Amino acid sequence: MVLKRLLICHKITYRAIFERTQNQGSFRVKESLKRPITFRAFNLVTGNFNLFKGKQFDIIFCRNVMIYFDKPTQQALVDKFYEMLCPGGYLFIGSSEALTDARKGLKSRSASIYQKV
Ligand SMILES: C[S@@+](CC[C@H](N)C(=O)[O-])C[C@H]1O[C@@H](n2cnc3c(N)ncnc32)[C@H](O)[C@@H]1O
Repeated sequence: MVLKRLLICHKITYRAIFERTQNQGSFRVKESLKRPITFRAFNLVTGNFNLFKGKQFDIIFCRNVMIYFDKPTQQALVDKFYEMLCPGGYLFIGSSEALTDARKGLKSRSASIYQKV
């Protein structure tokens, strides 16, 4: 639902992102979109966030991960995510998670979805 809204908002069609697989009713993200993506492991607690310095993200997905961290660690991480998001960017967390002490500037848009305002 939110993905649909985001796509509409940015005038993007599903067909621009997904292609059908041979299994009926199945879709996958297009190869041409996956190719430029770098996949790597990163420890959100001990990792060096300088790696992302100067980068601005439209969307950050961090679902069902912060549940493992204590409150100060969660808050520090949310602060980092906030800095990394571009204005209007979204932070997605798990549906059983919530930013109770939501950082000023991250507005709740729906359960588990926050937008940098
Ligand atoms: C419950 S799984 C959630 C996986 C996936 N995000 C999802 O929603 O299905 C929790 C994930 O948190 C990751 N995790 C735990 N501590 C982490 C850390 N310090 N840095 C990065 N990832 C961590 C684990 O590797 C695991 O994949």
